[in-house]
Amino acid sequence: MKKISITSSFDVFDSMTELPEVVQKLMLQAIEARKVAYAPYSKFKVGAAILLENNEVVIGSNQENAAYPSGLCAERTAIFYAGAKYPNVAFKTLAISATSDANPTLAPIPPCGACRQSIAEYESRQSHPIEIYFMGESGKVYRSESLENLLPLSFDKNVL
Ligand code: THU
Repeated sequence: MKKISITSSFDVFDSMTELPEVVQKLMLQAIEARKVAYAPYSKFKVGAAILLENNEVVIGSNQENAAYPSGLCAERTAIFYAGAKYPNVAFKTLAISATSDANPTLAPIPPCGACRQSIAEYESRQSHPIEIYFMGESGKVYRSESLENLLPLSFDKNVL
């Protein structure tokens, strides 16, 4: 028996103002998207914005449903829309911001497991990693250089 270890590391920005300008703009679009999320049940609003290789930006927000599991996260709303509208255009950067009407959300909010798995599919189809920035309502922003850094040992098409 031997042990293996896999480490993830993140860049931490104290606030949005420290982000590169292009990412700041993208994060502002995620924040705008978050404001119109449809989240009447959880009151937890998430916005996502993807910068594509063709420099188009696609946004998404969480869309809830009275039958709770039928709703969809902001990240998947955005990536599936991007995949539908711009098939085969690579993703450069994904920005995510989340806020709760119930409590201030000051810690960076990472994408959930199902979203990581879905983003992994897109990263594996392109030749470069997708950088991912995530934050709460305000405050610190985390940057992951890739999806793989957020979801090591992922299940992918190579095992099928
Ligand atoms: N949510 C997202 O939009 N993205 C995530 O990565 C985690 C959770 C949404 C789903 C649901 O509408 C609400 O946040 C509370 O879970």
